[in-house]
Order: sequence, then structure tokens, then C-alpha cells
Amino acid sequence: MGAVSFKDVTLRYAGTGRRRRRRAARGGAEVAIAATESAGAQSASAAERPALAGLNLEIADGEFLVLVGPSGSGKSTALRILAGLEQPTSGAVLIDGDDITGVDPAERDVAMVFQTYALYPHKTVEQNMSFALQLAKVPREEISRRVRRAAEQLGLTELLDRRPRQLSGGQRQRVAMGRAIVREPTVFLMDEPLSNLDARLRVQTRAQIAELQNRLGTTTVYVTHDQSEAMTLGDRVAVLDEGVLHQVAPPRELYDRPADIFVAEFIGSPAMNLLTITDDEFDGLVRGGSSGDVRADDVVFGVRPEHLAITADDAGLLLHIDHVEEFGAEAYAHGHLVDSAHTERVITRLRTDARPALGDTVRVVADPERVHTFDRATGQRMEANVAVSASAV
Ligand SMILES: Nc1ncnc2c1ncn2[C@@H]1O[C@H](COP(=O)(O)OP(=O)(O)OP(=O)(O)O)[C@@H](O)[C@H]1O
Ligand SMILES: [Mg+2]
Repeated sequence: MGAVSFKDVTLRYAGTGRRRRRRAARGGAEVAIAATESAGAQSASAAERPALAGLNLEIADGEFLVLVGPSGSGKSTALRILAGLEQPTSGAVLIDGDDITGVDPAERDVAMVFQTYALYPHKTVEQNMSFALQLAKVPREEISRRVRRAAEQLGLTELLDRRPRQLSGGQRQRVAMGRAIVREPTVFLMDEPLSNLDARLRVQTRAQIAELQNRLGTTTVYVTHDQSEAMTLGDRVAVLDEGVLHQVAPPRELYDRPADIFVAEFIGSPAMNLLTITDDEFDGLVRGGSSGDVRADDVVFGVRPEHLAITADDAGLLLHIDHVEEFGAEAYAHGHLVDSAHTERVITRLRTDARPALGDTVRVVADPERVHTFDRATGQRMEANVAVSASAV
């Protein structure tokens, strides 16, 4: 078993602000804020903001959950709270219904894989993988059995006698994984375990981690800032920003129905186009469709580059081509709207082998079924009916 719950978990780091805050308790809050600002490292708002704010998250037994978000969004903080390396300011963490908030890290049945693999340089691969089990006084034969099995699963059998410096980055990463696996924990915690690998190895290892987790069936909480890693690995993906959980959903749902503008922009590459355009411009964009019951003034329309197309018709939004990005398998044209009063940047995937030239003006239309609507004031997704009268793209 290995169901995990975060119940309203908030963490405000004392950190660098601690001494100042103590002084503030005696001398007044204004002094504290001025001191923080003059320190320059963090803005006052960042300093006051909790690293994690009221996180509620239920992770099912055996689930592969990915925490994703930009740098500083609180991903590692959430993981470290689950590992017991940080105490939340408020809220509780449960494993299989047991409140483990105050439980010592060593007493928690979790194993963490860090970005820096933190292998012991003078120990062999086998000794690195055995060490935690020796400390836990696991019988020698049992240790040997587990280490050999993990080594087999990870393709490390031939390397058991080597030392870390005799291994490639990818092999070291697998030893770090092996060290977690042999502990047979209830939950695996992984904090950006692939970020030290080159792009090719990252993709390869990503697939191996997915297969391994599938085989072991161990609940896994995996932290990354890379949305493509999140999308390919997670049964579900939790999107964090500034300590706040924006959405938790299976990858496809994040892509199809982002809950707000932040998720819409964060998930998908290249990022979704966000358009603040007039009703007339919108009519052109969806070729005779209409924005139905929403007023364009109140909303931001979102269209992914892959749901836009260049058309030969004279309907469509006029786009001035600034740049063409060629990937071989696909290509994207970057441009800006010609008619719009706004200076919107727009990216469209090119659907044919024809490439527009820089400086060309083309018309683009959207697949009306794939237009997202967000409240301009709150950024929240709206379930607007985009009415369509003409045929789709
Ligand atoms: N020990 C600490 N003391 C004070 N503030 C901290 C501490 N650790 C993290 N923070 C702050 O908490 C916030 C969240 O940090 P966290 O490490 O969880 O981010 P992250 O999402 O893992 O980012 P990254 O992708 O860069 O690893 C940041 O604003 C960070 O500056
Ligand atoms: Mg981190």
C-alpha cells in the first residue's frame, strides 16, 4: 500500500528571514520588510509568500504522480515535506491514512532519489546500493538478493564492482535509483532525477523509469520543471506555481482542458497562443463561427499552434510572418497580428511542406472545437460555447 494525502499543507520558510522576523516581533513589521527588500535576494512579496500554500492532494496507491512547475514553485518543498526533511507550518501529511507529519524521516517508509545522486565515492556500486539496508540491519543474504535483483532490473549487474567515478552520468543515475529500489519503500520520491543527463539519455531513461515503475507498482511522486517529462511520465500531473496548486489531472486533460491561463501556457510546446482580440477578429479566426455567449472584451482566447492553420481563403486573421522554425518533422511560423490593435505574437504549426517567407502576410484560422476561453479578469477557464456555423478547419 502507498496512498499519500497532503491535507492543507502550508510551509513558510523561516530561512534567511528568520533573524529579521524575530527582530520584527520586537521592533515592528515595517523594519522586517525594509530589511528584506534591501537584502535584494527576494522581493518582499516572495519573502512573505509561503513556499507551499494550502496544498491538498490525494495520491492513489501505485500511482505515478508528477509535480511540475517553474523554478521556485514549491515542488521540492512538497517532496521534502513528504520525506520528513521539512516540517509544514500547518496541515498534515498521511500515508495510508496514518498521519506521519511529525514522524522522523528515517521512520517513514519512503525512499528519495535526488538530482545530485549523492553516491559514496569510495564505495562500489554494490556497497552504495547495500548501505541503507546494512544500517537497517537487514540480514546479509536478503541484502544480496535485493541488490542483485535491482541491479538486474537496472542493467547494473556488470558494474557492481565499479566505483562512481568509473561510471557515466546515466549509470550513476541508475545506481541512485537502485539504492532507492532495494529499500522496497511504500513511496518513491524523485526530485528531478534526470536533469544531469544529456537530452538523449534523458528521453531514454525517462522511458526506463516509466517501465520500472509500472513493473514495481510502487507509488511514485516525481518532481520536474520539464512539462514534457511530466506529460510522458505521470498518470496524473499536478501543476504548481508560487506554492499554489493550479490543476491536477491526467496529462491529456491538462492539454485539452487547462483550468486556467497559467496551466494553458505551461503545458504544451510551443506554448498556447493567448489572444485578446475583438469579436470581429474572433469571427475571422474561427471562420464564421462566433464567440456565442461570451463578449470578446471579457475573455482571453487560447489556441494551440497545432490547432491553427494557414488558409488560402480571405477569412482568417492576418498574420505577419517574423520567423520560421524548422524541426524537420514539423515547422512553426512565428508572427504577429496585422489588424489587431494589440501586438499579439502568434505561433502556428505549418501543415504542408510549403514555408512562408519572412515578411509574408498570411491568414490563419483556428479549429473552433479547439479554442479555449479564459476569463480576462481571473484567468480561469470558462465553459463558453464557441458557436460554429461554418465548417471546421
Ligand atoms: N531552505 C529554505 N529557506 C528559505 N526559503 C526556501 C528554502 N528552500 C526553498 N525556499 C524558497 O521556497 C520556494 C520554493 O522552493 P522549492 O525549492 O520548493 O522550489 P522548486 O519548485 O523545487 O524549484 P526548482 O525547480 O528551482 O528546484 C522558493 O521561493 C525558494 O526560494
Ligand atoms: Mg526543486
